[in-house]
Amino acid sequence: MANSYKIAVIPGDGTGPEVTEEAVKVLNAACDKFSVSLDYEWFDWGGDRYLKTGQVLPEDAAETMKKFDAILLGAIGHPDVKPGMLEKGILLALRFELDQYINLRPVKLYQGVETPLAGKGPEDIDYVVVRENTGGFYTGIGGFTMKGTDNEVAVQSMVYNRAQVERCVRYAFEYAKHRHDVKNPWRGLKKEDIDRGKTAQLTLCGKTNVLTYTFDLWERVFHEVAEEYPEIKLDYCHVDATCMWMVKNPEWFDVIVTCNMFGDIITDLGAITQGGMGIAAGGNINPEGVSMFEPIGGSAPKYTGMGVINPLAAVAAGAMMFENLGEADAADAIEKAIEYVTGEKLESMSAGKMGYSTGEVGNLVVDNL
Ligand code: IPM
Ligand code: MN
Repeated sequence: MANSYKIAVIPGDGTGPEVTEEAVKVLNAACDKFSVSLDYEWFDWGGDRYLKTGQVLPEDAAETMKKFDAILLGAIGHPDVKPGMLEKGILLALRFELDQYINLRPVKLYQGVETPLAGKGPEDIDYVVVRENTGGFYTGIGGFTMKGTDNEVAVQSMVYNRAQVERCVRYAFEYAKHRHDVKNPWRGLKKEDIDRGKTAQLTLCGKTNVLTYTFDLWERVFHEVAEEYPEIKLDYCHVDATCMWMVKNPEWFDVIVTCNMFGDIITDLGAITQGGMGIAAGGNINPEGVSMFEPIGGSAPKYTGMGVINPLAAVAAGAMMFENLGEADAADAIEKAIEYVTGEKLESMSAGKMGYSTGEVGNLVVDNL
């Protein structure tokens, strides 16, 4: 009997529904090939529902989501809703309430995709950012005093507890350890490292020279957990330097682990090096619970309904979902089909410049599965 999974689909706002439709089209085609079955339920959460009902999420949203094996999200963000309302009320709320403490964001340049990094190709840009996803500045701890006066004080704290850091760092080590199970030992390592049996590298991206409390904690935890992973080469970069190396020497990276805020920032930089928001996917992961997969770009409202938006990021998010459900063959087939389409078919990753419509790109992936 086919492995069967219950999937919650939240197409969301703007172009979210269009790209989600293509992701589902590809997932269904992969199901037929790999005898998997997906049972979808659709949720209308997003800007339109909020404008109609005044409610961002139903009270029992998180409880409802817990009944599913995974969540596929299109995009959240509506031009008529105050910025932050839906992002905090839906996206961050689900990440927090479902304790999706990892945000896994591969930075992978597919064949045929143009990168703004001169002289770099797919063999250079292929690493993964493990972004802590429930703590740090995103906790929202802080406040104002004397608001509106010249002496106003605004505080927003980077808050981390040890357990939170440890579970994230541990996930990153495990991920680094297994990332190369299916790949060749790879280039971020020097020959001496490979001779010493090290087959993977984990970079802690921090700011130990300024954030001397939070990143002191991160650094201590990093080295403690590292003792359990002698096969992994350790690396450290301040976040500002990380940005520099991501541009100049992206081939140095294998897996990067970092806090929520830095992870947010460096993955936009990473996304643009891999061809932009049309292609970058991510997973909000609770390794013990229900995870949510999404294209990392926004809802791109100005392109809504025009059939010009690139659905490949959503399709790649679908592949990540399969991988997370344990359907590695289906995930792999989708990845390869995406790579064929970017390599052989699309003229550009940008909206309106692909040489095909949104639906045609979905069909091309299906045809090449
Ligand atoms: C992301 C987004 C979100 C974040 C916003 C929309 C709240 O930028 O997924 O990277 O900051 O995490
Ligand atoms: Mn972001």
